[in-house]
Amino acid sequence: MGARTLHIKTFGCQMNVYDSARMADALAPLGFVSTECAEAADVVILNTCHIREKAAEKVYSELGRLRHLKARKKGRGGRMILGVAGCVAQAEGEEILRRAPYVDLVVGPQVYHRLPRMIVELERTQAPAIDVEFPPESKFDHLPGVGAAPGVGAFLTVQEGCDKFCSFCVVPYTRGAEYSRPVGDVRDEARRLVDAGARELTLLGQNVNNYHGAAPRTFSRSRPGAAEWGLGRLIAELASIEGLKRIRYTTSYPADMNAELIAAHRDVPKLMPFVHLPVQSGSDKVLAAMNRRHDAAGYRRIADAMRAARPDIAFSSDFIVGFPGESEADFEDTLCLVRDIGFLQAYSFKYSPRPGTPAAAMTDQVPEPVKIDRLSRLQALLGDQQMEFNRRCAGTTLGVLFDRRGRRPGQILGRSPYSQPVHAEAGEDRIGTVVEVRIVRAYANSLRGRLEPGESAGVIASPGAESRAEARP
Ligand code: 5AD
Ligand code: SF4
Repeated sequence: MGARTLHIKTFGCQMNVYDSARMADALAPLGFVSTECAEAADVVILNTCHIREKAAEKVYSELGRLRHLKARKKGRGGRMILGVAGCVAQAEGEEILRRAPYVDLVVGPQVYHRLPRMIVELERTQAPAIDVEFPPESKFDHLPGVGAAPGVGAFLTVQEGCDKFCSFCVVPYTRGAEYSRPVGDVRDEARRLVDAGARELTLLGQNVNNYHGAAPRTFSRSRPGAAEWGLGRLIAELASIEGLKRIRYTTSYPADMNAELIAAHRDVPKLMPFVHLPVQSGSDKVLAAMNRRHDAAGYRRIADAMRAARPDIAFSSDFIVGFPGESEADFEDTLCLVRDIGFLQAYSFKYSPRPGTPAAAMTDQVPEPVKIDRLSRLQALLGDQQMEFNRRCAGTTLGVLFDRRGRRPGQILGRSPYSQPVHAEAGEDRIGTVVEVRIVRAYANSLRGRLEPGESAGVIASPGAESRAEARP
């Protein structure tokens, strides 16, 4: 029998991107190879997001589309196993099989290590399989090591789950309690990723700055006080991996930002000066109703402390507008905080009531037109700040880690220390290296640069090279 094919479509956050890769790794020993083409695949898995209603609804429209592919395949005598993984699987469980009875498999985020067994069983019995348990064992101890080659930038989950219970958020219900992977495991995985070609690691966790993983054995024996390491110490340790050029981490919780991590921004050159630090709102009244454990002044203090440690640090954030009870004055407090901090980039959302969360039952819901109006005002301000930041980069020289070919032949694409996409003319052999680039033009979402004179441009593709490359089997 030839290789069987697997197609995983990923929705939502970076952790899902990481999880999808690990699911593919877990299924590789069963002979599954990944394919971009859902229609051809023997197993199709949607790795889903439940954070807002729109995200969750997308899954059902995608399932509707796949239902036809599955039926067509069956008509030709073939078979497609259709699975739902991720946070919608966890939150809705059996309900998915009721709403979409053509689904074969529902698997929650904490049991991906059981996926191979589920598929084998499913093939044998043809009966739908469902597992949304929060098992006592950690999936990380049972998933195989990193398989497929990572890109220049790779994700590495170091922490998962959340105990914060912000009143709007489903994550504590879908991802479960906080768990930090042991330092030794993270270090081994980081080494494997770098050996396989990764040059930048983004450490992932829902509350990544609250990471407190078990110390490596040699350390805890000699230094009994250090049974657990925080994220700052973990980052300093990973920075010693040869070949690794850059480290990032996401997502952080403001109240968990600690002195050790802030000091790492001062002391570890590989740690990039760009931090995603969601604030959600600038109003203390709204922050309290959200059950956030910080106020606006606390957030400002953290940003100041981080800027004192690393003056060029830039921030990104998440905002929710139209949270129940948010008045115009509360919303203006958010605009005020945005003006004070100055964000390089940010994500902003209309509040979306999620079933089972406390905020969904609050009586003072904000009307939709008000949410729309506030979102557009906030996004206009954030957009201006982003453009202004990018404009200020023009004329400066930034280290760019190139990670892929550009859209045009002869062009490659990378990221600045602040994670801005930068394109420049250079050969593909410069991909995977950090190059000093003079920024010559700023756009809303990217920068254009020219290699500094001392930098080798490598072998630049000639026009037409892209189509030749595309034609390769
Ligand atoms: N409605 C709108 N946005 C939400 N987020 C989380 N839950 C909701 C919700 N119910 C946003 C928060 C969070 C980001 C990942 O998604 O801003 O930081
Ligand atoms: Fe959700 Fe709050 Fe936990 Fe972030 S900290 S995952 S917003 S509950």
